[in-house]
Amino acid sequence: PGSHPMIDGRTSHAAVVRAFSGQRPEDPETRPVWFMRQAGRSLPEYRATRAGVAMLDACLDPALASEITLQPVRRHGVDAGIFFSDIVVPLRLAGVAVDIVPGTGPVFEHPVRTADDVARLAPLDPDALAPVTEGVALTVAELGSTPLLGFAGAPFTLASYLVEGGPSKDQLRARTLMHADPGTWQALMDWCADVTGAFLRAQVLAGTSAVQLFDSWAGALSLADYEAHVAPASRRALSHVADLDVPVVHFGTGTGELLVAMRDVGADVVGVDHRIPLDEANRRLGGRTPLQGNIDPAYLDAPWPVLEAHVRDVIRRGGDAPAHVLNLGHGVPPATDPEVLTRIVRVAHGEDVRA
Ligand code: CP3
Repeated sequence: PGSHPMIDGRTSHAAVVRAFSGQRPEDPETRPVWFMRQAGRSLPEYRATRAGVAMLDACLDPALASEITLQPVRRHGVDAGIFFSDIVVPLRLAGVAVDIVPGTGPVFEHPVRTADDVARLAPLDPDALAPVTEGVALTVAELGSTPLLGFAGAPFTLASYLVEGGPSKDQLRARTLMHADPGTWQALMDWCADVTGAFLRAQVLAGTSAVQLFDSWAGALSLADYEAHVAPASRRALSHVADLDVPVVHFGTGTGELLVAMRDVGADVVGVDHRIPLDEANRRLGGRTPLQGNIDPAYLDAPWPVLEAHVRDVIRRGGDAPAHVLNLGHGVPPATDPEVLTRIVRVAHGEDVRA
């Protein structure tokens, strides 16, 4: 990592990038740290910036997306920004009628359930990604030596939303399509892989130092189904950035049984949720893969000494891995007190923290 012309030198010595490349910190008690959904509703400055602007409109306004990305970096002193966008942005840019409904999530006007539905999906015109490219470039220029992370949704998580037409508890319709009509499923997965891969590639070319693929709902799958019906498309999505030499983090929830398979689609780092301790994740991965995670978001609202003990336990268990980037096991809940996140950053950086 670091040989891409845009990122060469600028962030190659940053703690997050070094850890993603398997290097341990000089002080073994410290960790680089960022939080999934660090830009968002836990921050009053985010709520003020977003007031009156629809979620996807905010994502597609380069100046607004950049400002929202920078807010948690300024406030918490995290070691990386993550570009403010959403996994459904490239679907919208490919012409899919999707909205993000507050308190619900992505909702689709026309669910994709048949071979005809899939055939009607259009390819993504690379020029449509201009607002993303612009937003990333603006943000990278502001961040200087702090890395910006790009991200995208994995094909399975995107296909789940498309088939279900919105959020669902167990992705039942999507998993049924996978078995009932494997040809249509594969065509849908390939379309998702290329659209999300183009989104990822645009972010890296505009200057992100690493990327994360979110397969948030992969935990709904058996290992056999993941390997047969999902892994090939995730590998295809990542092939869009394979020549760009940036580290790839692969994250999902409930994926304790899938960690090896998720690494083996082409990831450098595996993101782990709170359901499996990092020392056990490291063991399952053969001790050769940097890890990211896995503070249980349920602790964020617990008394500080309880949370602090949990954070220190995560840091200790993460010390078994070749390298460890501290993060939550899933996104920041909207009701989180942002002060608590700042305090976790100070613990990760080895500062003395009192409640
Ligand atoms: O700070 C960051 O992590 C970057 C921003 C980011 C958002 N969405 C912003 C957002 C990222 C990385 C995502 C990814 C995303 N979006 C995922 C994968 C990560 C995960 O949480 O598992 C998924 C599944 C989505 C789909 C999605 N978009 C959901 C489920 C929701 C929540 C709906 C709700 O209101 O509860 C969204 C909306 C969304 N994406 C918000 C933000 C800040 C909230 C919108 C708002 O502020 O009104």
